[in-house]
Amino acid sequence: MKFFADTAEISEIRDLAATGLLDGVTTNPSLVHKSGRDFIEVLKDIAEVCPGPVSAEVVGLDYDSMMREAEVLRKVAKNIAIKVPLTPDGLKACKALTGDGTMVNVTLCFSAAQALVAAKAGASFISPFVGRHDDVGFDGMQLIADIRMIYDNYDFATEILVASVRHPIHVVEAAKLGADVMTAPPKIIHQLFKHPLTDAGIAGFLKDWQASGQKI
Ligand code: E4P
Repeated sequence: MKFFADTAEISEIRDLAATGLLDGVTTNPSLVHKSGRDFIEVLKDIAEVCPGPVSAEVVGLDYDSMMREAEVLRKVAKNIAIKVPLTPDGLKACKALTGDGTMVNVTLCFSAAQALVAAKAGASFISPFVGRHDDVGFDGMQLIADIRMIYDNYDFATEILVASVRHPIHVVEAAKLGADVMTAPPKIIHQLFKHPLTDAGIAGFLKDWQASGQKI
């Protein structure tokens, strides 16, 4: 499973890149706003630190605006993936952009039917939002299982990018279902490393080692 960081904070991305586990980055207009930085500048910085796909979202709602914005965004770096919303115009833009060799992340997916049409439009990534799905009383993980089954039935190459991840269990469940990628806020990625028994075990071993008086 690939790990993408869902943030536009360059210091957090540098930090995660140093772990060697960072495969890509996803941003959205809310995350860019939160960073307080110029969109293009922040994208340049991210794409330099992370050689994997960096998702940059268009804000235009019609095909022509999306294509115009995509033209600006894809010039920022070779590893930019254009993020388009799951709408008829978004999928039209997806088809045109992927046909032209640009990576496209189709975002705001909340149903298996939407994931199916995105794959038919040639999406590089489909982003089902599991956390937001759970929030309104649906089962986000069931959506991942359904998409996995459909994509496998037809050998679609579109990668399932599990988004709106809220806790480590989302990551583990998505991995068990065979999702290709997950994107999560850095705080959640750091939580994946942690277990209280690991900390307690280290403390116990260190105490005994010091008592032994030995050195390595
Ligand atoms: C991913 O591409 C989305 O930007 C993100 O995962 C949305 O997460 P949220 O529901 O926590 O805002």
